[in-house]
Parts: sequence; C-alpha cells; structure tokens
Amino acid sequence: MAGSRKGLKIVAAVTGILLIVILVVLVVLVVLFVTILKPKEPSIFTKPVTLESFELVVTPVVRLNVSIGILITVKNPNYGGFKYENSTAHISYRGNVVAEAPIEKDTIPARATHNITSSVSILADKLVTDTHFLGDVILVGVLNFTSEATLHGKVSLLKVFEMKATSYSECNISITIKTQSADSVCKSRVELKK
Ligand SMILES: *[C@@H]1O[C@H](CO)[C@@H](O)[C@H](O)[C@H]1NC(C)=O
Ligand SMILES: *[C@@H]1O[C@H](CO)[C@@H](O)[C@H](O)[C@H]1NC(C)=O
Ligand SMILES: *[C@@H]1O[C@H](CO)[C@@H](O)[C@H](O)[C@H]1NC(C)=O
Ligand SMILES: *[C@@H]1O[C@H](CO)[C@@H](O)[C@H](O)[C@H]1NC(C)=O
Ligand SMILES: *[C@@H]1O[C@H](CO)[C@@H](O)[C@H](O)[C@H]1NC(C)=O
Repeated sequence: MAGSRKGLKIVAAVTGILLIVILVVLVVLVVLFVTILKPKEPSIFTKPVTLESFELVVTPVVRLNVSIGILITVKNPNYGGFKYENSTAHISYRGNVVAEAPIEKDTIPARATHNITSSVSILADKLVTDTHFLGDVILVGVLNFTSEATLHGKVSLLKVFEMKATSYSECNISITIKTQSADSVCKSRVELKK
C-alpha cells in the first residue's frame, strides 16, 4: 500500500514538472513569436526613375521611343523570406496605360535588401491617339507620365507564420523634351494582412 502511494507521488511530481516545462516552452515560443519571429512589414523605396534612352522625331511622322528605368528597393526585415508573385509595372499618360513591363516573381531572403529593376519603353503609337500629345510636345515641351507597380507577396517563417503583404509604388514622371531629362516623385507603401 505504502509503495503504490509513493508511486503515485512520483507520477504526480513528474507530471507537475512536465507541465511546468511545457508551460515554460510555450511562454518562450510566444515571446519569440511576438518579439523576433512576428512578421514585420518589408519596407519599399521607389527611386526616381532614370531615362535610359530618348528618341523623338516629329516630322514627317511622329516617332517616339522613350525608355524608362524603374528601381524598387525592398528591405525584408524578417527572419523568413518575402516571396512575391509575377506582376506588371504600368506607365500611364493622362490616365491611359501606354506601356507596361513585367516584374518577375522572386523571393527576397531573410533580412536582406533586394533591388527590383524594370525597364519600360514608351512608343509613339500609344500616344499619338491622345489629342493632348502634340500640344504637350510642341507647345509645353513636357510629357507627364505616372508609373505604378503593385507587388503581391507573402512573408513566411518556417512555413508556420505567414502573412500577406502588398506593396504599392507610384511615381509622377515629367520628361522635359528640350533637355531630354526626367524628373520624378515617387511614393511607396506596404499593407500587411494576417
Ligand atoms: C526603343 O528603344 C530601345 C532602347 O534603345 C530599343 O531596345 C528598342 O528596340 C526600341 N524600340 C523601337 C520600336 O524602336
Ligand atoms: C511568371 O513569369 C514567368 C516568366 O514570365 C513564367 O514563366 C511563369 O509561368 C509565371 N508564373 C506565374 C505563376 O504566372
Ligand atoms: C540597389 O540599388 C542601389 C541604387 O542603385 C544601390 O546603391 C544598392 O547597392 C543596390 N542594392 C543591392 C542589394 O543590389
Ligand atoms: C506636369 O508635371 C509637372 C510637375 O508635377 C507640373 O508642374 C505640370 O503642370 C504638369 N503638366 C501637365 C501638362 O500636366
Ligand atoms: C502625382 O500627382 C498627383 C496630382 O498632382 C498627386 O495627387 C499625387 O499624389 C502625385 N503622386 C506622387 C507619387 O507624388
């Protein structure tokens, strides 16, 4: 009788210790998750665009071929990769899309900074149909464009903690024909979803 009571005590003690150990492990995991592993939003910077080439002829026919370089820098602060899907950068002139460039899917490794570059050619045939185009070229000498790129991605840590992140980059681009130079103002933001 005394022996089995002793056995029960040992079982109770071992169970108690196990419970405490499990509790401690859980607390440590929660603290780790909340502090270190918790997905943080990647930061996105869009650099002012660069003019890679510029060709404009007005007579006898309008020929325009402007190549714009887009550089988006993504900084992934997480201990897991940031994976983004195929996407497209769009260039618009007076609200209409006139050129697009593919952005191929990729994964930005943990705690790394990554450059996404894309080059877009804007050709005359998409612009000459706009009634403002010749006026902008001849009278104003400035062509204004907007660029837009959206990246849909996912931050994943050990395949356990996943979070969706969508980044938006926008630029207002002014190309001055006389100097063949581009000025741009860019804005980026990231939205994180559970
Ligand atoms: C436009 O310019 C780019 C860069 O110079 C060139 O690669 C491309 O072939 C040109 N496209 C046309 C239609 O002229
Ligand atoms: C992404 O783009 C690449 C190259 O353009 C293509 O081979 C691939 O099938 C695309 N993936 C998806 C999921 O659309
Ligand atoms: C990204 O591009 C910027 C500007 O050109 C450059 O300073 C930086 O070193 C590049 N970073 C990487 C990781 O390639
Ligand atoms: C083009 O953009 C510049 C700079 O944002 C602005 O000052 C100018 O009014 C714009 N021109 C047109 C025709 O929209
Ligand atoms: C671009 O210009 C429009 C109109 O002036 C303005 O509403 C928008 O905030 C500008 N975008 C950027 C990225 O500066």
